Amino acid sequence: MGIVLATASCAQTTLKEAFKNDFLIGAAVSPAQFCESNQVEAALVKAQFNSISPENVMKWEVIHPEPGQYDFALADRYVEFGVTNQLAIIGHNLIWHSQTPDWVFRDAKSNYVDRDTLLARMREHIFAVAGRYRGKIIGWDVVNEALADNGTLRDSPWRKIIGDDYIAKAFEFAHEADPQAELYYNDFSLENEPKQAGAVALIKNLQAAGVKICGVGLQGHYSLEKPTLQKIDKAISTFAKLGLKVMVTELDVNVLPSPGHALSAEVSERYRMSAGLNPYTNGLPADVQQQLAQRYADLFSIFLKHRVSISRVTFWGVTDGNSWLNDWPVQGRTNYPLLFNRESKPKPAFDAVLKTAQGKTAIKLSAGESALAR
Ligand code: XIL
Repeated sequence: MGIVLATASCAQTTLKEAFKNDFLIGAAVSPAQFCESNQVEAALVKAQFNSISPENVMKWEVIHPEPGQYDFALADRYVEFGVTNQLAIIGHNLIWHSQTPDWVFRDAKSNYVDRDTLLARMREHIFAVAGRYRGKIIGWDVVNEALADNGTLRDSPWRKIIGDDYIAKAFEFAHEADPQAELYYNDFSLENEPKQAGAVALIKNLQAAGVKICGVGLQGHYSLEKPTLQKIDKAISTFAKLGLKVMVTELDVNVLPSPGHALSAEVSERYRMSAGLNPYTNGLPADVQQQLAQRYADLFSIFLKHRVSISRVTFWGVTDGNSWLNDWPVQGRTNYPLLFNRESKPKPAFDAVLKTAQGKTAIKLSAGESALAR
Protein backbone atom coordinates (compact mmCIF):
# COMPACT_ATOMS: atom_id res chain seq x y z
CA MET A 1 0.00 0.00 0.00
CA GLY A 2 1.39 3.34 -0.96
CA ILE A 3 1.12 6.30 1.34
CA VAL A 4 -1.42 8.99 0.75
CA LEU A 5 0.44 12.24 0.42
CA ALA A 6 -1.05 14.97 2.50
CA THR A 7 -1.71 18.18 0.66
CA ALA A 8 -0.61 20.31 3.60
CA SER A 9 2.82 21.68 2.88
CA CYS A 10 5.81 21.13 5.15
CA ALA A 11 7.45 24.22 3.71
CA GLN A 12 8.08 25.67 7.16
CA THR A 13 10.74 23.02 7.69
CA THR A 14 13.88 22.70 5.63
CA LEU A 15 15.75 19.62 4.49
CA LYS A 16 18.83 20.40 6.56
CA GLU A 17 16.74 21.04 9.66
CA ALA A 18 14.65 17.91 9.21
CA PHE A 19 17.71 15.64 9.00
CA LYS A 20 20.04 17.54 11.31
CA ASN A 21 20.36 14.60 13.71
CA ASP A 22 20.75 12.08 10.91
CA PHE A 23 23.08 13.18 8.10
CA LEU A 24 24.19 16.17 6.11
CA ILE A 25 21.98 17.18 3.20
CA GLY A 26 23.94 18.35 0.18
CA ALA A 27 23.45 19.61 -3.35
CA ALA A 28 25.76 19.72 -6.33
CA VAL A 29 26.04 23.36 -7.29
CA SER A 30 26.94 25.22 -10.48
CA PRO A 31 28.49 28.68 -10.97
CA ALA A 32 25.11 30.46 -11.33
CA GLN A 33 24.32 29.29 -7.80
CA PHE A 34 27.62 29.73 -5.97
CA CYS A 35 28.47 33.03 -7.74
CA GLU A 36 24.88 34.05 -6.95
CA SER A 37 23.99 35.30 -10.45
CA ASN A 38 20.86 33.20 -9.97
CA GLN A 39 19.78 34.67 -6.66
CA VAL A 40 16.69 32.52 -6.27
CA GLU A 41 18.65 29.29 -6.58
CA ALA A 42 21.50 30.62 -4.42
CA ALA A 43 18.98 31.43 -1.70
CA LEU A 44 17.46 27.97 -2.05
CA VAL A 45 20.86 26.33 -1.56
CA LYS A 46 21.51 28.39 1.57
CA ALA A 47 18.06 27.73 2.99
CA GLN A 48 17.78 24.00 2.40
CA PHE A 49 21.26 22.45 2.35
CA ASN A 50 24.22 22.25 4.71
CA SER A 51 26.70 20.71 2.28
CA ILE A 52 27.74 21.42 -1.30
CA SER A 53 29.52 19.49 -4.04
CA PRO A 54 30.96 21.10 -7.17
CA GLU A 55 29.07 19.73 -10.17
CA ASN A 56 31.95 20.43 -12.59
CA VAL A 57 34.34 23.18 -11.47
CA MET A 58 36.88 20.99 -9.68
CA LYS A 59 37.16 18.43 -12.45
CA TRP A 60 40.56 18.19 -14.13
CA GLU A 61 39.49 19.73 -17.46
CA VAL A 62 38.22 22.86 -15.70
CA ILE A 63 40.81 23.34 -12.96
CA HIS A 64 43.91 22.16 -14.86
CA PRO A 65 43.15 22.54 -18.58
CA GLU A 66 46.74 22.64 -19.90
CA PRO A 67 50.08 21.36 -18.61
CA GLY A 68 51.32 23.70 -15.89
CA GLN A 69 48.22 25.87 -16.20
CA TYR A 70 45.68 25.87 -13.41
CA ASP A 71 42.46 27.84 -13.40
CA PHE A 72 41.17 28.11 -9.85
CA ALA A 73 38.81 31.03 -10.49
CA LEU A 74 35.53 29.11 -10.23
CA ALA A 75 36.77 26.59 -7.67
CA ASP A 76 37.83 29.47 -5.42
CA ARG A 77 34.36 31.01 -5.71
CA TYR A 78 32.78 27.64 -4.91
CA VAL A 79 34.87 27.24 -1.77
CA GLU A 80 34.29 30.85 -0.75
CA PHE A 81 30.51 30.34 -1.01
CA GLY A 82 30.78 27.29 1.22
CA VAL A 83 32.97 29.00 3.81
CA THR A 84 30.79 32.14 3.93
CA ASN A 85 27.63 30.13 4.40
CA GLN A 86 29.15 27.53 6.75
CA LEU A 87 28.43 24.60 4.48
CA ALA A 88 30.31 21.29 4.56
CA ILE A 89 32.35 21.61 1.36
CA ILE A 90 33.02 18.49 -0.70
CA GLY A 91 35.74 18.12 -3.32
CA HIS A 92 34.73 16.27 -6.51
CA ASN A 93 36.98 14.86 -7.83
CA LEU A 94 40.72 14.24 -8.03
CA ILE A 95 41.12 11.21 -10.31
CA TRP A 96 38.60 10.13 -12.95
CA HIS A 97 38.76 8.87 -16.54
CA SER A 98 36.16 11.39 -17.72
CA GLN A 99 36.50 15.18 -18.04
CA THR A 100 40.25 14.69 -17.88
CA PRO A 101 42.14 16.16 -20.86
CA ASP A 102 43.98 13.71 -23.10
CA TRP A 103 47.30 15.56 -22.66
CA VAL A 104 47.48 14.20 -19.12
CA PHE A 105 48.26 10.76 -20.53
CA ARG A 106 50.42 11.71 -23.53
CA ASP A 107 53.91 12.88 -24.44
CA ALA A 108 54.90 15.39 -27.13
CA LYS A 109 54.56 12.69 -29.82
CA SER A 110 51.06 11.79 -28.61
CA ASN A 111 52.19 8.44 -27.23
CA TYR A 112 51.19 7.33 -23.74
CA VAL A 113 53.69 8.51 -21.12
CA ASP A 114 55.35 5.98 -18.82
CA ARG A 115 54.25 5.04 -15.30
CA ASP A 116 56.64 7.37 -13.49
CA THR A 117 55.66 10.36 -15.61
CA LEU A 118 51.95 9.82 -15.03
CA LEU A 119 52.48 9.25 -11.31
CA ALA A 120 54.39 12.53 -11.15
CA ARG A 121 51.56 14.34 -12.98
CA MET A 122 48.98 12.79 -10.68
CA ARG A 123 50.95 13.82 -7.60
CA GLU A 124 51.47 17.37 -8.85
CA HIS A 125 47.76 17.76 -9.65
CA ILE A 126 46.58 16.36 -6.32
CA PHE A 127 49.02 18.51 -4.36
CA ALA A 128 48.05 21.64 -6.32
CA VAL A 129 44.30 21.12 -5.95
CA ALA A 130 43.82 19.37 -2.59
CA GLY A 131 46.72 21.38 -1.14
CA ARG A 132 45.15 24.70 -2.14
CA TYR A 133 41.93 23.98 -0.25
CA ARG A 134 43.50 22.22 2.72
CA GLY A 135 41.44 22.79 5.85
CA LYS A 136 38.40 23.98 3.87
CA ILE A 137 37.26 20.84 2.05
CA ILE A 138 35.89 18.28 4.52
CA GLY A 139 36.15 15.36 2.11
CA TRP A 140 37.42 14.49 -1.36
CA ASP A 141 36.14 12.02 -3.91
CA VAL A 142 39.71 10.89 -4.52
CA VAL A 143 38.96 8.30 -7.17
CA ASN A 144 35.73 8.33 -9.16
CA GLU A 145 34.30 5.36 -11.07
CA ALA A 146 37.32 3.04 -11.18
CA LEU A 147 35.20 -0.09 -11.58
CA ALA A 148 33.50 -1.68 -14.58
CA ASP A 149 30.01 -3.19 -14.28
CA ASN A 150 31.44 -6.70 -13.83
CA GLY A 151 33.48 -5.60 -10.82
CA THR A 152 36.89 -5.63 -12.48
CA LEU A 153 38.92 -2.45 -12.67
CA ARG A 154 37.89 -0.20 -15.53
CA ASP A 155 40.64 -0.19 -18.13
CA SER A 156 41.13 3.56 -18.08
CA PRO A 157 44.36 5.26 -19.16
CA TRP A 158 45.18 5.61 -15.44
CA ARG A 159 45.18 1.85 -15.03
CA LYS A 160 46.74 1.10 -18.42
CA ILE A 161 49.72 3.35 -17.76
CA ILE A 162 50.29 3.14 -14.00
CA GLY A 163 48.81 -0.26 -13.19
CA ASP A 164 46.22 -1.33 -10.61
CA ASP A 165 47.97 0.54 -7.81
CA TYR A 166 47.06 3.95 -9.29
CA ILE A 167 44.13 3.99 -6.88
CA ALA A 168 46.28 3.46 -3.78
CA LYS A 169 48.71 6.10 -5.05
CA ALA A 170 45.94 8.65 -5.52
CA PHE A 171 44.75 8.11 -1.95
CA GLU A 172 48.31 8.36 -0.59
CA PHE A 173 48.95 11.61 -2.43
CA ALA A 174 45.62 13.05 -1.29
CA HIS A 175 46.38 12.15 2.31
CA GLU A 176 49.78 13.83 2.09
CA ALA A 177 48.30 16.92 0.44
CA ASP A 178 45.51 17.32 3.01
CA PRO A 179 45.98 15.06 6.05
CA GLN A 180 42.74 16.21 7.72
CA ALA A 181 40.40 15.66 4.78
CA GLU A 182 38.17 12.62 4.59
CA LEU A 183 38.97 10.54 1.53
CA TYR A 184 36.31 8.70 -0.44
CA TYR A 185 35.87 6.18 -3.23
CA ASN A 186 32.84 7.17 -5.35
CA ASP A 187 30.97 5.14 -7.97
CA PHE A 188 27.57 4.32 -9.49
CA SER A 189 25.68 1.01 -9.59
CA LEU A 190 27.36 -0.22 -6.41
CA GLU A 191 23.97 -1.79 -5.59
CA ASN A 192 24.62 -4.38 -8.32
CA GLU A 193 26.16 -7.61 -7.09
CA PRO A 194 29.31 -7.94 -9.26
CA LYS A 195 30.26 -4.29 -9.04
CA GLN A 196 29.60 -4.25 -5.30
CA ALA A 197 31.86 -7.29 -4.83
CA GLY A 198 34.55 -5.54 -6.86
CA ALA A 199 34.27 -2.43 -4.69
CA VAL A 200 34.46 -4.46 -1.48
CA ALA A 201 37.62 -6.20 -2.73
CA LEU A 202 39.14 -2.90 -3.81
CA ILE A 203 38.44 -1.26 -0.45
CA LYS A 204 39.68 -4.25 1.55
CA ASN A 205 42.93 -4.18 -0.43
CA LEU A 206 43.39 -0.51 0.32
CA GLN A 207 42.68 -1.08 4.00
CA ALA A 208 45.06 -4.05 4.15
CA ALA A 209 47.78 -1.89 2.59
CA GLY A 210 47.24 0.76 5.27
CA VAL A 211 45.85 3.34 2.84
CA LYS A 212 43.60 5.94 4.46
CA ILE A 213 40.08 5.63 3.06
CA CYS A 214 37.21 7.06 5.11
CA GLY A 215 34.13 6.54 3.07
CA VAL A 216 32.37 5.25 0.03
CA GLY A 217 30.01 7.27 -2.12
CA LEU A 218 27.03 5.54 -3.65
CA GLN A 219 26.23 7.98 -6.43
CA GLY A 220 22.51 7.23 -6.27
CA HIS A 221 21.49 7.89 -9.86
CA TYR A 222 18.25 5.97 -9.57
CA SER A 223 15.04 5.50 -11.53
CA LEU A 224 11.46 5.16 -10.28
CA GLU A 225 11.85 1.40 -9.93
CA LYS A 226 15.52 0.56 -9.89
CA PRO A 227 17.46 -0.39 -7.94
CA THR A 228 15.10 -2.10 -5.53
CA LEU A 229 15.00 -0.89 -1.94
CA GLN A 230 16.43 -4.22 -0.87
CA LYS A 231 19.50 -3.76 -3.06
CA ILE A 232 20.09 -0.26 -1.73
CA ASP A 233 19.62 -1.49 1.84
CA LYS A 234 22.14 -4.27 1.31
CA ALA A 235 24.70 -2.00 -0.36
CA ILE A 236 24.64 0.41 2.58
CA SER A 237 25.03 -2.42 5.13
CA THR A 238 27.82 -4.04 3.15
CA PHE A 239 29.96 -0.91 2.97
CA ALA A 240 29.17 0.13 6.54
CA LYS A 241 30.50 -3.26 7.69
CA LEU A 242 33.88 -2.33 6.22
CA GLY A 243 34.06 0.43 8.81
CA LEU A 244 33.46 3.15 6.24
CA LYS A 245 31.18 6.14 6.29
CA VAL A 246 28.56 5.66 3.61
CA MET A 247 27.38 8.60 1.57
CA VAL A 248 24.74 8.99 -1.10
CA THR A 249 26.61 11.47 -3.21
CA GLU A 250 24.69 12.18 -6.42
CA LEU A 251 21.06 11.41 -5.73
CA ASP A 252 18.42 11.89 -8.42
CA VAL A 253 15.46 9.88 -9.69
CA ASN A 254 15.11 9.67 -13.46
CA VAL A 255 11.42 9.63 -14.45
CA LEU A 256 11.93 9.39 -18.21
CA PRO A 257 11.90 6.26 -20.39
CA SER A 258 15.26 4.58 -20.63
CA PRO A 259 16.60 4.40 -24.20
CA GLY A 260 17.48 0.75 -23.91
CA HIS A 261 20.45 0.98 -21.57
CA ALA A 262 20.74 -0.71 -18.20
CA LEU A 263 20.34 1.72 -15.31
CA SER A 264 23.70 3.35 -14.92
CA ALA A 265 25.42 6.71 -14.89
CA GLU A 266 28.00 5.91 -17.54
CA VAL A 267 28.68 9.42 -18.82
CA SER A 268 29.95 8.16 -22.18
CA GLU A 269 26.56 6.57 -22.98
CA ARG A 270 24.67 8.73 -25.46
CA TYR A 271 21.44 8.13 -27.31
CA ARG A 272 19.69 10.03 -30.05
CA MET A 273 16.34 11.61 -29.26
CA SER A 274 13.46 9.61 -30.68
CA ALA A 275 9.69 9.45 -30.38
CA GLY A 276 8.55 8.50 -26.90
CA LEU A 277 11.78 9.39 -25.12
CA ASN A 278 10.60 12.84 -24.05
CA PRO A 279 6.96 12.42 -22.97
CA TYR A 280 6.57 15.16 -20.32
CA THR A 281 7.54 18.40 -22.04
CA ASN A 282 4.29 20.02 -20.82
CA GLY A 283 4.59 18.97 -17.20
CA LEU A 284 4.73 15.82 -15.13
CA PRO A 285 1.39 13.96 -14.97
CA ALA A 286 -0.08 13.75 -11.46
CA ASP A 287 0.31 9.97 -11.22
CA VAL A 288 4.02 10.13 -12.06
CA GLN A 289 4.46 13.03 -9.63
CA GLN A 290 2.91 10.80 -6.97
CA GLN A 291 5.17 7.89 -7.95
CA LEU A 292 8.21 10.13 -7.66
CA ALA A 293 7.14 11.35 -4.22
CA GLN A 294 6.62 7.78 -3.06
CA ARG A 295 10.01 6.72 -4.43
CA TYR A 296 11.73 9.54 -2.55
CA ALA A 297 9.84 8.66 0.64
CA ASP A 298 10.96 5.05 0.29
CA LEU A 299 14.58 6.03 -0.38
CA PHE A 300 14.74 8.31 2.64
CA SER A 301 13.16 5.63 4.84
CA ILE A 302 16.08 3.38 3.93
CA PHE A 303 18.60 6.18 4.48
CA LEU A 304 17.09 6.92 7.89
CA LYS A 305 17.20 3.25 8.83
CA HIS A 306 20.96 3.50 8.25
CA ARG A 307 21.45 6.95 9.74
CA VAL A 308 24.23 5.71 12.01
CA SER A 309 26.27 4.71 8.94
CA ILE A 310 25.22 7.42 6.50
CA SER A 311 27.00 10.72 6.95
CA ARG A 312 25.59 12.64 4.00
CA VAL A 313 22.92 12.54 1.31
CA THR A 314 23.69 14.86 -1.60
CA PHE A 315 21.37 15.61 -4.53
CA TRP A 316 22.98 15.97 -7.96
CA GLY A 317 21.59 19.41 -8.66
CA VAL A 318 19.22 21.86 -7.01
CA THR A 319 16.20 22.23 -9.31
CA ASP A 320 14.77 20.10 -12.11
CA GLY A 321 15.73 22.79 -14.63
CA ASN A 322 19.46 22.43 -14.05
CA SER A 323 19.72 18.67 -13.64
CA TRP A 324 22.24 16.90 -15.86
CA LEU A 325 19.45 14.38 -16.59
CA ASN A 326 17.88 16.86 -19.03
CA ASP A 327 20.88 16.14 -21.28
CA TRP A 328 22.04 12.65 -20.38
CA PRO A 329 21.88 10.07 -21.86
CA VAL A 330 19.71 11.90 -24.41
CA GLN A 331 20.22 15.59 -25.07
CA GLY A 332 17.41 18.11 -24.69
CA ARG A 333 14.81 16.22 -22.64
CA THR A 334 12.56 17.58 -19.90
CA ASN A 335 13.27 15.60 -16.75
CA TYR A 336 11.94 15.93 -13.18
CA PRO A 337 14.49 14.14 -10.97
CA LEU A 338 14.88 16.46 -7.96
CA LEU A 339 12.84 17.94 -5.09
CA PHE A 340 12.48 21.47 -6.50
CA ASN A 341 10.75 22.35 -9.77
CA ARG A 342 11.87 24.70 -12.53
CA GLU A 343 10.55 27.65 -10.53
CA SER A 344 12.61 26.55 -7.51
CA LYS A 345 9.40 25.59 -5.68
CA PRO A 346 9.17 22.43 -3.58
CA LYS A 347 7.48 19.48 -5.27
CA PRO A 348 5.30 16.80 -3.63
CA ALA A 349 8.51 14.74 -3.37
CA PHE A 350 9.95 17.43 -1.08
CA ASP A 351 7.00 17.12 1.29
CA ALA A 352 7.23 13.34 1.13
CA VAL A 353 10.91 13.45 2.13
CA LEU A 354 10.20 15.80 5.03
CA LYS A 355 7.37 13.57 6.24
CA THR A 356 9.75 10.65 6.20
CA ALA A 357 11.99 12.63 8.53
CA GLN A 358 9.09 13.26 10.86
CA GLY A 359 8.46 9.52 11.01
CA LYS A 360 5.00 10.03 9.57
CA THR A 361 5.36 7.88 6.54
CA ALA A 362 5.01 4.17 6.19
CA ILE A 363 7.28 2.51 3.71
CA LYS A 364 5.72 0.99 0.65
CA LEU A 365 6.12 -2.75 0.61
CA SER A 366 5.98 -4.54 -2.67
CA ALA A 367 5.84 -8.29 -3.07
CA GLY A 368 9.03 -9.95 -1.91
CA GLU A 369 10.40 -6.97 -0.08
CA SER A 370 10.92 -7.18 3.63
CA ALA A 371 9.79 -4.53 6.05
CA LEU A 372 12.54 -2.00 5.94
CA ALA A 373 10.75 0.75 7.81
CA ARG A 374 12.57 1.96 10.88
C1 XIL B 1 28.08 15.26 -14.70
C2 XIL B 1 27.64 16.73 -14.65
O1 XIL B 1 26.45 16.81 -13.90
C3 XIL B 1 27.43 17.24 -16.04
O2 XIL B 1 27.17 18.65 -16.01
C4 XIL B 1 28.66 16.96 -16.91
O3 XIL B 1 28.38 17.36 -18.23
C5 XIL B 1 29.03 15.50 -16.87
O4 XIL B 1 29.20 15.08 -15.53
N1 XIL B 1 28.91 10.90 -12.21
C6 XIL B 1 29.72 11.86 -11.65
C7 XIL B 1 29.48 13.30 -11.94
O5 XIL B 1 30.58 11.53 -10.82
O6 XIL B 1 30.65 14.05 -11.95
C8 XIL B 1 28.72 13.46 -13.25
O7 XIL B 1 28.41 14.85 -13.40
C9 XIL B 1 27.50 12.59 -13.29
C10 XIL B 1 27.86 11.15 -13.17
